[in-house]
Amino acid sequence: MGSVELRNVTFSYPGAEAATLKNVNIKVEKGQYAALVGPSGSGKTTISYLIPRLYEATKGQVLFAGSDVKEIAQADLIDNVGIVNQETYLFHATIKENLAYAKPGATDEEITAAAKAANIHETISSFPEGYDTMVGERGYRLSGGEKQRIAIARVLLKDPPVLILDEATSSMDTQSERIVQETLDAVTRNRTTIAIAHRLSTVINADVIFVISAGEVVESGTHKKLLKSNGLYSKLVNEQFKGA
Ligand SMILES: Nc1ncnc2c1ncn2[C@@H]1O[C@H](COP(=O)(O)OP(=O)(O)OP(=O)(O)O)[C@@H](O)[C@H]1O
Ligand SMILES: [Mg+2]
Repeated sequence: MGSVELRNVTFSYPGAEAATLKNVNIKVEKGQYAALVGPSGSGKTTISYLIPRLYEATKGQVLFAGSDVKEIAQADLIDNVGIVNQETYLFHATIKENLAYAKPGATDEEITAAAKAANIHETISSFPEGYDTMVGERGYRLSGGEKQRIAIARVLLKDPPVLILDEATSSMDTQSERIVQETLDAVTRNRTTIAIAHRLSTVINADVIFVISAGEVVESGTHKKLLKSNGLYSKLVNEQFKGA
C-alpha cells in the first residue's frame, strides 16, 4: 500500500482548450519522499489533484497502490491521502473540533500530542480560550503558517499512508522556516510523500525530484544528479526557487 504513479497522464481542466498536463510519468514508491519543483503555473498543484481524484486524467492512468484510482472508492482515496496546503479549510468551530474532525473520537491527549508534534500547541495554549478558541468564519484569524500547522496536526491524527504537501509560495523568515521544516520532517517519516516545494531545504534530501515545466516532466532524479546535468533544476536552484 502507498505507491503512487501517473502513467502517460494528459489532463485538461473542464472547458479549457489547452492541456495543463502533457504525457506526465511519475512514480513514487511506498515510503519514498518525492518532490515536485518547477515554475509557477507549470502544473504541480494540478498533479496533486489527480491523486485523490479531485479531477480525473483526460488520458493515461493514475495508480494508487497499483490500482487505477477510477476503481477505488472516493471515500477510500480520501482516507488514504492526506493533503496539507495553506488553503486549509477551518470551519466555524473550536480549534479542538477542527482537529478532532480528522479522527472522530480522538481523545484530548491524542489531539494535544498531534498539536505538539505539529508545533502549534504553544500557540494554541497562548490563546485565552486555548483549544476552545473559535476559528473559521467570524472566529479568530489564524495566520497562513498557523493554519498550515493545524493542517499538519490533522494529518498526524488521520495518519494516512500517502501525504501531499503543497507548500506556500510566500517567503518565510529563517526561524519560521526552521519550525516548518522540523514539523514536516516529523510528519513525512514512514509515509509516501509528494512535496510540492518552494524551499530548497524541502527538496535536497528527496529520494526523487520531478521537475515540471509547462505541464511536462522535463527532468527527474536526485538533487545531486540534477545539479550535475545543468538543466532547469540547477537553474531554479541558482535562483533559490524564486517564483517557483
Ligand atoms: N480550475 C482551473 N481551471 C482552468 N485552469 C486552471 C485551473 N486551475 C489551474 N489552472 C491552470 O493550470 C495551470 C497549472 O496550474 P497549477 O496550479 O497546477 O500550477 P502550479 O505549478 O501549482 O503553480 P504555483 O507554483 O504557482 O502554485 C495554470 O496555467 C493555471 O492557470
Ligand atoms: Mg501550486
